[in-house]
Amino acid sequence: MTQTMRAVEITEPGGPDVLKIAERAVPQPGPGQVLLKVAYAGVNRPDALQRAGAYAPPPGASDLPGLEASGEVAALGEGVTDLHVGDQVCALLPGGGYAEYVVTPAVHCLPVPEGLDLKQAACLPETYFTVWTNVFLRGGLQAGERFLVHGGSSGIGTTAIQLAHHFGARVFATAGSADKCKVCMDLGAEKAINYRDEDFVELLRAEGGANLILDMVGGDYLPRNVNALADDGRLVQIAFLQGPKVELNFAQVMMRRLTITGSTLRPQSDLAKARIASDLRARVWPLLAAGRIAPVMDSEYPLEKASEAHARMETSGHIGKIVLKVS
Ligand SMILES: NC(=O)c1ccc[n+]([C@@H]2O[C@H](COP(=O)([O-])OP(=O)(O)OC[C@H]3O[C@@H](n4cnc5c(N)ncnc54)[C@H](OP(=O)(O)O)[C@@H]3O)[C@@H](O)[C@H]2O)c1
Repeated sequence: MTQTMRAVEITEPGGPDVLKIAERAVPQPGPGQVLLKVAYAGVNRPDALQRAGAYAPPPGASDLPGLEASGEVAALGEGVTDLHVGDQVCALLPGGGYAEYVVTPAVHCLPVPEGLDLKQAACLPETYFTVWTNVFLRGGLQAGERFLVHGGSSGIGTTAIQLAHHFGARVFATAGSADKCKVCMDLGAEKAINYRDEDFVELLRAEGGANLILDMVGGDYLPRNVNALADDGRLVQIAFLQGPKVELNFAQVMMRRLTITGSTLRPQSDLAKARIASDLRARVWPLLAAGRIAPVMDSEYPLEKASEAHARMETSGHIGKIVLKVS
């Protein structure tokens, strides 16, 4: 097998143009890991944060960007018995997806759901792991509850709307244009709120308040989210696109028994991610195979145009997922 591969490097912290094609050594799978020959790599906002120097890879992870990919198992590390060379999988990665080969724990691989192709499968792991752990495990969303997701047309948002709707929640979503709002409604939102001309706080309060909010915006959304929550409501923070620092009156948190929490996926232990993978395989992969839910695809770029993919993502013109074709 070849010893070197094409990969996209972050040459220095900065804008999309710092992403450049380079030649790297093909990584070797360690115990419990597999080597994947990457077909497609999903593009996610955290990749842009890493590129800008604001989201360092955890210790031991590749310095190359890329948190998810699909492809074929090319080699097995010691002790891997559940996968075989040639299996087609999609996988959550600790990094390194923008490359022809990548290593990841075997327990973070999932089969390509029946009926989906490798391109669609590459877009599943990062958003499905994130939504499952934050909305259902941490956020405890129950059927019949009112669920608000911000950034409804994002990779995360389109996944959260579909899963919450499927599991019986009443779904509300915010998005920045009429077209994006329409997509949110088509995916199962009961109401999509164009935040440029409607106030989500007023709308949610008129419904009795949100039982759970999934937020990636932060900034002045923090106090507004608190106001939009029902008594005993939960706010789960997964990013701070408008910044993490804000003045907040915590009396409401106490008086109305609110919970404010959050998490990032990447630094969690391999075991924690393996548990999420096993939940997804049992509860969510059958829904994908049955066509009840599906990834929302925006656009495809060749690996060497990763900088253009990042530029598209950062102008927020996209709806759903952007993917890199690697081989
Ligand atoms: N904690 C975790 O483990 C974890 C894991 C994965 C992703 N994330 C985070 O989740 C978010 C979504 O990720 P993604 O990959 O799905 O991203 P994405 O597709 O790029 O979506 C981000 C969306 O947020 C909206 N947005 C951007 N800036 C905004 C602002 N200042 N105010 C309000 N809305 C804004 C945009 O839509 P509009 O046009 O509607 O504004 C955009 O489509 C990102 O912030 C990412 O960092 C967190």
